[in-house]
Amino acid sequence: MSVDEDNITEPAVRRWATAHSPRLGELMTALVRRLHDFSREVRLTEDEWAAAIAWLTAAGQTSDDKRQELILTSDVLGLSTLVVQLNNRFGPRATPATVLGPFHIDGSPTAPYGFDMADGIEGTTLFFTGRVTDIEGKPLPGAVLDVWQADADGAYEAQLPEVDEARLRAKYRTREDGSYCIRTIAPRGYAIPMDGPVGDLMRRTDISHFRPAHVHFLIDEPGYRKLTTHLFQEGGPYLDSDVVFGTRDALITPFTERPPGPAPDGSTLETAYLQAEYDFVLQPG
Ligand code: BEZ
Ligand code: FE
Repeated sequence: MSVDEDNITEPAVRRWATAHSPRLGELMTALVRRLHDFSREVRLTEDEWAAAIAWLTAAGQTSDDKRQELILTSDVLGLSTLVVQLNNRFGPRATPATVLGPFHIDGSPTAPYGFDMADGIEGTTLFFTGRVTDIEGKPLPGAVLDVWQADADGAYEAQLPEVDEARLRAKYRTREDGSYCIRTIAPRGYAIPMDGPVGDLMRRTDISHFRPAHVHFLIDEPGYRKLTTHLFQEGGPYLDSDVVFGTRDALITPFTERPPGPAPDGSTLETAYLQAEYDFVLQPG
């Protein structure tokens, strides 16, 4: 049978429906249908298709074990956040999930209550305090908060090849009453990497390439759904234009100014500092 632009889709779908796993068959046949429909809808030209292949090739070649341009592509298309939403449908009382992002490093050191994970790094002192609880408000002692963030220049440790010890990341364990205390520096909004194919494409649009100021948290407590999330600074720039669509209203938290004096970790500070109070509520699972 000879195919034409209208009838090629069904034979292609039938071929991919032979996938050995039913799920792979479902994914591939739906993908083929949508790619064909997309090409017909926009009347894709050969030059455009060649340019798209060249762009994907460059995105792959820009990626390595530290940099992942294809994840960034998924992020700026809103696909990463969509997949997070589809797979983390928590109840209204639970803390919502958001994107993991590319800068998490496994195996952060365990830190005591109030540990300063920004020791020696310039910035405004910030404490995160609160509790980890279940959706009934029952405290979860011994829950581990894996925390990471960028410095005041927007750089994560994973972007600094010269750094060989944990920088702005640590794992905190909650106390008997579910409480935690993290000392760090205030994050700032930062630009996603713009020196690759994603940046080339974005410069041909009016899309803002910034993320609002945030700190990342991962809480993986047995008996509960793994929570991958951020806390965002209330009132900061880019909350309404986050380039990776990661902002959630329930994750926007005031960073309240506190005068010099007693600090949440039990120390006394000679300078003013910021405090963000937030209770993480885990979805049973
Ligand atoms: C991040 O928050 O670390 C991040 C997320 C997606 C893309 C780039 C950075
Ligand atoms: Fe981030």
